[in-house]
Amino acid sequence: METVRLDKCLTMNFGCSRREAGIFIRKGRVTVNGIPVRDAALRVSPEDDVRCDDSGLQVVTRACPRYFMLNKPAGCVSATDDSEYPTVMSCLRDEAGGLFPVGRLDLDTEGLIFITDDGAWAHRVTAPSRKCPKVYEAVLEHPADPVLKEIFARGVLLRGEKTPTLPAELEILAPEKVRLTIHEGRYHQVKRMFASQGNHVISLRRIAIGGIFLPEDLGSGEYRPLTPQEIALF
Ligand code: URA
Repeated sequence: METVRLDKCLTMNFGCSRREAGIFIRKGRVTVNGIPVRDAALRVSPEDDVRCDDSGLQVVTRACPRYFMLNKPAGCVSATDDSEYPTVMSCLRDEAGGLFPVGRLDLDTEGLIFITDDGAWAHRVTAPSRKCPKVYEAVLEHPADPVLKEIFARGVLLRGEKTPTLPAELEILAPEKVRLTIHEGRYHQVKRMFASQGNHVISLRRIAIGGIFLPEDLGSGEYRPLTPQEIALF
């Protein structure tokens, strides 16, 4: 019989972080087969009656595909292994293998990235034909020229490319701080778009993918499972 850790069972039911699940458990709010349990590492199976505040939880084991969001820190690569740098997978050490990042963020880019073992789902997130919106916040070297809104809305031709970028939406949040929504995922796209206009990205953070926003309380390097509603968006 497949089993799963008790704290993971809570994260899968509530979409909370493992840390939050541990707090529920330590407060004695979780019972297994009628007995309050304070050990987050206890393994439970679908045959166990797991309850939190007396409402029943589903025990889903690893036979199911897994879906997470990670707040990627700068300094790790979006890959499953690398000879030089730590990878995003090092943030999910508690999870078993088979997972991979969905798409890429640059080494120095932070923010939202999905991690899964469901290749078909990952493909739906990244397929160019779906034009999934991705929202980035960037700090620029120079104040953003408001004319960039029109330029990016029309599309820009990046060096070495044959087709202009798809229409993108630019918001200027502060003189040197912008929010840019793009609908494709070309190599270093955001940095190259600003570079093509004589400005430079100093720091970059992805805050949303396809309507899923990075929660403010998910710290750098933290992750949580996607909820069934979030998974169903793709
Ligand atoms: N655009 C970039 O330039 N870098 C990223 O990591 C993502 C989008």
